[in-house]
Amino acid sequence: MTSFWSIWVIVLTLACLVLLFGLLVWNLKNFVGVEEGESCGHEFDGIEEINNPLPKWWTYMFFATFAWSVYYLAAYPGLGNFEGFLKWKSSNQGVTSLEESKEAVDKMHADGYRIQLDGEYRAADEKFGPMFKSFAQRDVLDLASDEQAIEIGQRLYLQNCAQCHGSDARGGDGFPNLTDKDWLYGGTPDKIKETILQGRIAAMPSWEAALGGEQGVKEMTAFVLSLSGRTVNQRDADAGKAKFAMCAACHGADGKGSVAHNLPFGAPNLTDNTWLYGSGSARSVEESIANGRAGVMPAWKDILGEDKVHLLTAYVYSLSQDK
Ligand code: HEC
Ligand code: HEC
Repeated sequence: MTSFWSIWVIVLTLACLVLLFGLLVWNLKNFVGVEEGESCGHEFDGIEEINNPLPKWWTYMFFATFAWSVYYLAAYPGLGNFEGFLKWKSSNQGVTSLEESKEAVDKMHADGYRIQLDGEYRAADEKFGPMFKSFAQRDVLDLASDEQAIEIGQRLYLQNCAQCHGSDARGGDGFPNLTDKDWLYGGTPDKIKETILQGRIAAMPSWEAALGGEQGVKEMTAFVLSLSGRTVNQRDADAGKAKFAMCAACHGADGKGSVAHNLPFGAPNLTDNTWLYGSGSARSVEESIANGRAGVMPAWKDILGEDKVHLLTAYVYSLSQDK
């Protein structure tokens, strides 16, 4: 807020308070020259104005709210740019990254501010930290069959992961389904944990130029669709097949994907009719090949910490196990 608006807010707020206070005090007095309970001598359509001061209990309550408002405006931020003597802040505002946030919190603590959000995080860590620690010492396979662990894991999932993978973890366009046995990076506890801790960045380059333009993309699309048994123009598919060597480095020579060949690239299996993008419509497959794709799974190590990620790993792992 600029100083002009800050002063504007301060003057208006304080003027209002003083005005209301004056009005209240003025209304406490008896009407001049008239006994309490007597008529003031005014009549409106047969309704008489009686000299009745405001009830005492009500006025005291009103005075109390004035006292509170003065304390509140002095203690907390709100009156223009004035910070309040408690130096309270709801959160570390104006930061755009995790590192900045940590720096801002440390700096504010050093300057004697009280940051409510940070305080609540610390309190929660103190209260629940030991529980997460004890879960973290157990094996993922063991946790995956522990009802309480799964329930807590699910809550962590709903708070942090559901916006992308869906509340039922079945994913969506560009976001993998976590409940099936089809994995981009591997479905063992170790691989799942690695994915969540470090995040993943998929790098599927654009192939339009390498394939010789639109016709080449069309032919490759036909071949890719034929891999999962779709009916395609056989001449196109054969022409695509001849160039598939350039895809094999990541998708494997048989197109079964990175996991099947123990590769770290996260390239999907193209033969199973499970699709990451656009439900495998010819258009979306063509788009993947022509323009490339770059799905990003964020890294959670610094946000949630290893203990919570361990529990999340157990939850995600449990989703694709037969019950
Ligand atoms: C901002 C969106 C987003 C959020 C939030 C998110 N993910 Fe992901 N996640 C992705 C994307 C996109 C991919 C696929 C990356 C790719 O295309 O290679 C992915 C991939 C994964 C995979 C690998 C799946 C496979 O087939 O190998 C796992 C496991 C996973 N996420 C778990 C989680 C968990 C657990 C959380 C919550 C802590 C989470 N994700 C939060 C977007 C997200
Ligand atoms: C450098 C490794 C790499 C190479 C080479 C590569 N891809 Fe990919 N491809 C990927 C990755 C990684 C993804 C997943 C992208 C994502 O998750 O955002 C992908 C995704 C795709 C998809 C989308 C699949 C789906 O389920 O929606 C298609 C189709 C595809 N690739 C076809 C090809 C074809 C055809 C070639 C060869 C011309 C090729 N790729 C070469 C890494 C590669």
